Amino acid sequence: MNLEKGYIEKKIDPTLDLFKEISHLKKEKNAIILAHYYQDPDIQDIADFIGDSLGLAQQAAKSNADIILFAGVHFMAETAKILKPKAKVLIPDLNAGCSLADSCPPQKFSDFIQSHPHHVVLSYINCSADIKALTDIIVTSSNAVQIVESFPKDQKIIFAPDKNLGAYINKLTGRNMILWNGSCEVHEIFSLEKLIQLKAQHPKAITLAHPECEEAILQHADFIGSTSALLNYSKKSNDKEFIVLTEPGIIYQMEKASPDKTFIPAPPNNNCACNNCPYMKLNTLEKIYIALKYEQPEILMDEVLMLKAKQPIDKMLELSAKFGL
Ligand code: 13P
Ligand code: SF4
Repeated sequence: MNLEKGYIEKKIDPTLDLFKEISHLKKEKNAIILAHYYQDPDIQDIADFIGDSLGLAQQAAKSNADIILFAGVHFMAETAKILKPKAKVLIPDLNAGCSLADSCPPQKFSDFIQSHPHHVVLSYINCSADIKALTDIIVTSSNAVQIVESFPKDQKIIFAPDKNLGAYINKLTGRNMILWNGSCEVHEIFSLEKLIQLKAQHPKAITLAHPECEEAILQHADFIGSTSALLNYSKKSNDKEFIVLTEPGIIYQMEKASPDKTFIPAPPNNNCACNNCPYMKLNTLEKIYIALKYEQPEILMDEVLMLKAKQPIDKMLELSAKFGL
């Protein structure tokens, strides 16, 4: 099968009911679909589980499926493969990368660690398996604060790859972690000027932000959290209007859970009205159908690397369970 493009190119009969076909393939092959909140609504609707990075890793770890199709980006599918090496892990498009993961090349990170001896290495889950293998404990935006606080106050810590999340954790915990200089292109491109205008136009709106946003943007947020924390906040809140500073895919679940509330995607620093992640949005229902049918593209990894990368993920899952997350 030709995978030159990163996915299998096949013409699909346009009369096919893809929802039905995908459901049928899932049953036939004992497959599950795990989808991140940044996926398109039709993909979220066909998923067996939709979640943030922590929730998706927890689901992968407890799955009994023979096939896990990961509707998300490459590092997420890799994490599922590391946690379930016997399962066949599929990703609809191998080009679904992540600018944040790409901002941390393994050799440079290894040199960075060498130049900071006696530091514990914490890495955000948005990194490659090579970076995970160099890490002591993985964190997500759902558990980073608790994991950092589980170390004594004087513990020296390196945090990679997201400098914005790292700076936010430093601020919340009063730590002085050394930060790798990486960032997410989607969360860095929000326009402060347009946000201030939007808030003036909607004075009653509550501003929800992901901690991958820059400090100047976070200063204008009423609530900061992971995608699932933002969703839960919007469900529980009595307010009726929200400005959303993260990838707008999450708004589908927000509107579904609270049809009486209004969610406004915050605009980026360009001419677009919203801020889609170009990598997440490479996945389509068609590519998912083809991937399940032909069982490709598959995530294949070196076994030694998988074992090394599993240790810091397992530690994160253990700590998360201890914290009741
Ligand atoms: P969470 O869903 O874990 O908050 O992560 C957001 C993100 O950018 C994933 O790529
Ligand atoms: Fe990576 Fe940012 Fe896209 Fe998440 S939103 S996958 S961090 S580029």
